[in-house]
Amino acid sequence: MTEAPDKLKLSLLEATHALRSGSVVGLPTETVYGLAADIAQPEAVAKIFALKERPENHPLIVHIAKFSQLNRYAKDIPPYAIQLAAACWPGPLTLILSKTEAVGDIVTGGQQTVGIRMPKHPMALAIIQSLDSALAAPSANRFGKISPTTPEHVFSEFDGKVSVIDGGPCEVGIESTIVLATEPDRLTILRPGQIGVDKIQSIVGEGVMVSVGGSSTSPKVSGNLDSHYAPTKPAVLVASLPQWQALKERFSDSIATLAYSDNFRNNLATEPFTQFLSAEPQAYAQQLYQALRQADNLNVKVIAIEAPPADSAWLAVSDRLQKATAKGLRLDIGETTR
Ligand code: TXA
Ligand code: MG
Repeated sequence: MTEAPDKLKLSLLEATHALRSGSVVGLPTETVYGLAADIAQPEAVAKIFALKERPENHPLIVHIAKFSQLNRYAKDIPPYAIQLAAACWPGPLTLILSKTEAVGDIVTGGQQTVGIRMPKHPMALAIIQSLDSALAAPSANRFGKISPTTPEHVFSEFDGKVSVIDGGPCEVGIESTIVLATEPDRLTILRPGQIGVDKIQSIVGEGVMVSVGGSSTSPKVSGNLDSHYAPTKPAVLVASLPQWQALKERFSDSIATLAYSDNFRNNLATEPFTQFLSAEPQAYAQQLYQALRQADNLNVKVIAIEAPPADSAWLAVSDRLQKATAKGLRLDIGETTR
């Protein structure tokens, strides 16, 4: 991975100045790095879409640093949404709420709702506080690609065109849980994340119905596109060692592997281009994007990813892996295991 040159790393003071002057800056959060602009400056926000090559109808998340900002940008907030914010902020939870006039169309893609979260990173919070505004920030990757979890990722993603605040590697490693919270007595988890279904249900109580997954009528969540968070190489989920072996043969040994189980660990210990990740879902999530990028940068033809357990604790990781492998080749299990 290319080291970000020092001239591209900004101090907090420089970053605040750059944001105030309408520039876009790479911002550390606890989930992934964001590509941030001041929401009060539409021309600055427009630069995010241009840099990311992101369609303009895809809404951005607004990052706040104080609870009082919630009422500045959102209205008609259901009581359970306040409970969620109180319990989880600062932290990896985004609430989709009805927007106020203070949020421009460019931020919401013309929708009447806005995604808001308070990130749990001291540098992000300090900058937002000193700007006295909020920051619109999608993940700092090109549209459809893997989210960045280090300043170096942001640097390489935009070929050094974006300055970054170096906040170290991200603690969570995958994007925030997104909750659609516009209805009074029910909510929908549109994107799973570290804050899981059970935790959300326990915070809001039995009186609020919790469901998972968007529908065709729900607002656009780019993570809902089938192929997203994707490496450039074909990536395939493999559920067993025979499947892995078959894939390896099909690609004449030109394979990189991400695995976590003892079974894979014991059998692939001497395999080149193999990365072993944690068998614990939160630690796995923290390592995932870095590992995917590393595999993508190797001189191999295919990336094999050991399929995660079908356990609810792995929901967010499974979601990202499904999307990372969605446009890869379909593994014909019958054929490849024979
Ligand atoms: O952890 C995160 O959420 C990171 C960090 C940087 O905060 N941000 C992030 O942003 O993942 P982005 O743009 O890559 O993904 C945010 C998702 C998008 O899929 C977007 O469609 C959805 O949030 N979103 C934002 N506002 C929305 C709205 N008003 N209605 C529905 N979906 C919305
Ligand atoms: Mg993204």
